[in-house]
Amino acid sequence: MKAAIATGIQDFDKHINIDESWPQPTLETAKDGKTGKPVSKLAEKHMIVKVLACGVAPGDCRLFKGKTDMMQLPKWGRPYVIGSDICGIVTEVGEDESYYKLGDKIIARFDEPQPQGMCAEYVCVKTHLSEKCPASIPATEACTLASSASAAKLVIEKFIQKDSRVLLLGGSGGLGTFMCQYIKKQGASFLAATTTQSDLVKSLGVDRVIDYRVENWWELEKEFGENPFDVVVDLVNGQNWVTGACSGTTVLKSKAPYVQMFTGVETEIDMGMGIISVIPFIFSLLGRSLYSKLHRSCPKYITPKGLELKPGHLEALLEDIADKKVKVVLDPAGPFEFTTEGVRAAMKLQNSIHAHGKVVIEIAKDEQSS
Ligand SMILES: NC(=O)c1ccc[n+]([C@@H]2O[C@H](COP(=O)([O-])OP(=O)(O)OC[C@H]3O[C@@H](n4cnc5c(N)ncnc54)[C@H](OP(=O)(O)O)[C@@H]3O)[C@@H](O)[C@H]2O)c1
Repeated sequence: MKAAIATGIQDFDKHINIDESWPQPTLETAKDGKTGKPVSKLAEKHMIVKVLACGVAPGDCRLFKGKTDMMQLPKWGRPYVIGSDICGIVTEVGEDESYYKLGDKIIARFDEPQPQGMCAEYVCVKTHLSEKCPASIPATEACTLASSASAAKLVIEKFIQKDSRVLLLGGSGGLGTFMCQYIKKQGASFLAATTTQSDLVKSLGVDRVIDYRVENWWELEKEFGENPFDVVVDLVNGQNWVTGACSGTTVLKSKAPYVQMFTGVETEIDMGMGIISVIPFIFSLLGRSLYSKLHRSCPKYITPKGLELKPGHLEALLEDIADKKVKVVLDPAGPFEFTTEGVRAAMKLQNSIHAHGKVVIEIAKDEQSS
């Protein structure tokens, strides 16, 4: 079968290719990326899916660049199949499977912590990381849901209260475009977002756009000092915590929760040197958390688990999309073709840290939604 594979690191124009003779998985032959064992021998249930569309995410690029091999490279190393989330049609289920049937349209997520394995004509997925998808949601949109929309919904429902005033750092990316909508859906009374994409985020409910090239949010004390933000959600990282949140700014309420996605688009992680390189990263997270606990007015630093699925969560998410309560934003350069050029272009766009919406590769026609 055809699969988009990474053969080396760093060079998108050399090390990402379509392989036309990659082995097609069956429940007998597919191997688990974490253990390298045949999936038929593992306790978790799996199924085989014909892929219609595949989404990529920042984690795909970090792994491709060799930054996170220690945690995320499959047991057998390179080459591996790239791609994080899919929408597709079930083609094989285990004998004891009672929920999924052949021909079901489903969405599925990569197996944490491995953002890979999905950009191919057929894939093997875990049933507990999947959900049936209404036929009306186009595959190119549905393939963005299982981790990006899902992480946004989980985090926002946990940290945003009705009538909160919220500051979102990085509102226009794959996760950010879902976050804007879930923050407003959760009942936030006011949402400000940092981005260069004013029209896009306003269409998603943002009340005040802060162009980070022109204004520093922590300096907007005249505008927000008397009516400060209750919560900050940071998808960018960069200098936002150190220079912004810890500056003593009056733009944030004292001890406001500062919800930092574990990695931000501007975060450089490099675990290439194994455990030695992970230690400073872990210490910086622990250090921030401790500092925020001890400091009188500094915001409360929180790194949520964005990908922890709970029963019924994906079903509720699919309902939001099918009922048009939340919409999927795709970067206008996509969906990309399932060719070497198309897949390289998708990965390069994701790596640019300036995708606007989700980056998606169309693998086969979605007959059910057309
Ligand atoms: N996607 C997921 O499933 C998922 C799940 C859990 C965690 N995460 C993590 O969450 C982070 C965000 O993910 P994502 O999918 O939204 O990434 P993304 O799609 O790569 O985000 C790109 C966006 O970041 C914005 N941006 C870049 N620099 C900025 C800055 N200095 N200030 C404000 N915005 C800036 C860009 O807007 P401009 O073009 O306007 O600069 C662009 O729209 C990543 O680290 C990711 O690993 C993602």
